[in-house]
Amino acid sequence: MPTNRTFTMIKPDAVQDGNSGAIIKMIEEAGFRIVALKKTQLTPANAGAFYAVHSERPFYNDLCQYMSSGAIVPMILEKENAVADFRTLIGATNPANADERTIRKLFAKSIEQNAIHGSDSDENAQIEGNFFFAQTEQF
Ligand code: CMP
Repeated sequence: MPTNRTFTMIKPDAVQDGNSGAIIKMIEEAGFRIVALKKTQLTPANAGAFYAVHSERPFYNDLCQYMSSGAIVPMILEKENAVADFRTLIGATNPANADERTIRKLFAKSIEQNAIHGSDSDENAQIEGNFFFAQTEQF
């Protein structure tokens, strides 16, 4: 049963560059409602836990170091068809392959420092949202 929520986080490169506001504006203008939002920083161990599914990949250690290198802005978002529509809005993982006017095309630096995360399924959206937010922080 599909849900109408997805999870995202603006990554350290985009926060550091002062692009959080512009990215949030694009998200809201695309019709997503912000259910939960905060600014925080992952420890390397927490980044490792969040990305545990990638632990066998060659880029895993670099990814954990990068994701804990600065502040991030995690959010839970609501919209009909949220997971698929949000992945369309952010574009391909590698910004070189991202469509024009997607968030990654506009703001990502590289396949690793790609500005923003978007859940790839309803199940992962729920798991990832719960990683950062308690029920009482969701509006
Ligand atoms: P994300 O969508 O958050 O999911 C996993 C992350 O790993 C991805 O964005 C990138 O930040 C990073 N990533 C994926 N593929 C590569 C790769 N080939 N090299 C380096 N980093 C990658």
